[in-house]
Amino acid sequence: MLRLNLTNLFKECIGEHGIDWAEALPTYAQRLEAARDALWGRKSDPGQFLGWIDVPEDTESLRKMLRYWEAQAWVEDLVVLGIGGSALGAQAVAAALGRGPVRLHFVDNVEPEPILELLRTLEPSKTLVNVISKSGSTAETMAAFLVLRQWLEEGTANWKKHVVVTTDPARGILRPYAQAEGLTAFEVPPSVGGRFSVTCPVGTLPLAFTGVDLENLLAGARKANEQAQGPLSQNLPAQTALVYHLFAQKGKNIVVFMPYSTRLRYLPDWFVQLHDESLGKAKDRQGREVRSGTTAVRAIGTTDQHAQVQLFREGPRDKLIQFVRLREPNEDLKIPAVKGLEGLDYLFGRSLFELLEAEARATAHALAKAGQPNYTLTLEKLDAYHLGWLLQHLMWQTAFLGELWNINAFDQPGVELGKEYTYALMGRKGWEKIAEELRSEGVE
Ligand code: PA5
Repeated sequence: MLRLNLTNLFKECIGEHGIDWAEALPTYAQRLEAARDALWGRKSDPGQFLGWIDVPEDTESLRKMLRYWEAQAWVEDLVVLGIGGSALGAQAVAAALGRGPVRLHFVDNVEPEPILELLRTLEPSKTLVNVISKSGSTAETMAAFLVLRQWLEEGTANWKKHVVVTTDPARGILRPYAQAEGLTAFEVPPSVGGRFSVTCPVGTLPLAFTGVDLENLLAGARKANEQAQGPLSQNLPAQTALVYHLFAQKGKNIVVFMPYSTRLRYLPDWFVQLHDESLGKAKDRQGREVRSGTTAVRAIGTTDQHAQVQLFREGPRDKLIQFVRLREPNEDLKIPAVKGLEGLDYLFGRSLFELLEAEARATAHALAKAGQPNYTLTLEKLDAYHLGWLLQHLMWQTAFLGELWNINAFDQPGVELGKEYTYALMGRKGWEKIAEELRSEGVE
């Protein structure tokens, strides 16, 4: 179960920043139902990049990938080469649910020292490299691949056994190379964009190696699909999108995403990318300047109660805070009583999860009292099913916001421009004109 608690958006202390939910829901019902029908109606058009809706239904592709994983019992370390949407989803889920025995490493930058440091700890003959790039051409990922390919060639008898490629079935440089070299390759469906790809082999292949229950991850994602198809009263992602929309209209330009869980420590990074890259757009669908978007910010409870929460409570009232909590722990620890430390007797006999919960409730209330709107999504527990549900819920929330703001949530022209400029600065063939333009603009 995924539960939504909006109480702290309505409190009187939120004042003019509060919303009247009873009024907002019926007011927006028609618009949101039209958005829902438009998204479901467009999903079979590959150009709309809504393929992520159907991915969790495709259990055949999952089984094919699991057969590959089962045959790789020799792997002790898996190095994922990917960036942005090609890394963040697997990283978030692996931190939450990964059990090993394979150690997972993410190379999502081209800073040489950490890569060298990692390679020094690895044994090539026991290492598998998963190079992941939807476009099959991103400079960082390709550069890391060139380096790791050589490292494997020098350190193993058959480097090809140590590489598995995840890329578009047709586009880019990687696919024809994988074919020519006979490398094992999995597909990123053409209609699935990077930040929406966690349930396809971009996420599932690395996660298989860390023992994540993928059947249940996809089952949870299907549950979010079911809700996203339902009437507004049961359509959780349409409702949370409406909350974001209403508060954006009230000048809440920052959305804080704050799970109360160290295991979910990378989830905010995944969410920040999903939200910011999808919704920060210069133009609307008709090409008019809109400068849409709110800025997602990461925080972790309780850790950041001792850092950012000071600002969240007493700083500018420009934020909407979204908490993620767990209804019950998978395991718990009792706090023992200690003679001589009676000043701590309020903790004696209580459990760590009880304290975590009290901290979360205390912070949410303290923020609401200071007029800082916040709401909570509670997962029944932290397992594959509920995490899959949450991930797909957040993808739907993003898609609904794209519809409400009349923008394309599935492209990323700003990110692409950075890639183009990099190619030009690095002297890639075909990019001479852009290089010239950059020189004339004073970029050396
Ligand atoms: O969400 C996106 O589309 C991007 O963040 C991409 O995932 C990122 O730029 C990496 O691209 P690619 O997978 O093509 O290497």
